[in-house]
Amino acid sequence: MIELAPSILSADFSRLGEDVKQIENAGAHLIHVDVMDGHFVPNISYGATVMKSLCGRTQMPFDVHLMIENPDQYIGDFVTEQTEYITVHQEACRHINRTVQHIRSMDVKPGVAINPGTPVSALEYVLEDADLILIMSVNPGFGGQRFIENSVEKVVRLREMIDRKGASAWIQVDGGVNVETGRRLVEAGADVLVAGSAVFRSDDPARVIRELKSF
Ligand code: DX5
Ligand code: ZN
Repeated sequence: MIELAPSILSADFSRLGEDVKQIENAGAHLIHVDVMDGHFVPNISYGATVMKSLCGRTQMPFDVHLMIENPDQYIGDFVTEQTEYITVHQEACRHINRTVQHIRSMDVKPGVAINPGTPVSALEYVLEDADLILIMSVNPGFGGQRFIENSVEKVVRLREMIDRKGASAWIQVDGGVNVETGRRLVEAGADVLVAGSAVFRSDDPARVIRELKSF
């Protein structure tokens, strides 16, 4: 089954609790938490305080996407009883295996993300240690950008690589996901879809969530 992780980056922050409740009632599985530092990406979003304000307000687990330099320094801040995944960027980690082990040592599932310009082959020796691989299908930093087409091919290649190694990591895709691109990504082998603007900027978020889950 496809899991759906709406990104609260596109939510209305003045009523974040209500927005999250709405997507939970509509059947979303995870809350995707986009953390940006203004260095790794050219934008600043929010930090652990905002995420922690949702603890206990929803049953959905947190899926933390750290788009930050020096992630090792901040991983601990995002560990809560509700944190299921913490994903770091391969490009931001000098010692990615060590960072993945660090996340796992905190009883959180580790994820590794790659930017659109990074080949899937960069994941070859970390694949078996991660629970989640995140293919960025836009350049990270902003919601509402246009989907980069060759991401579908990257998902196909990653699926092959995971199956060849007998690994169990889930494939997540993030950026420009809507009902049309989502369908193609699932056909290519994606397991988890992240969607920000397609859900929160829609007139009917519940319908979009239903459609994205149906593939
Ligand atoms: C982009 C973030 C995404 C973003 C997706 O840097 O990592 O999670 O919120 O937004 P949409 O779905 O609008 O492209
Ligand atoms: Zn994200």
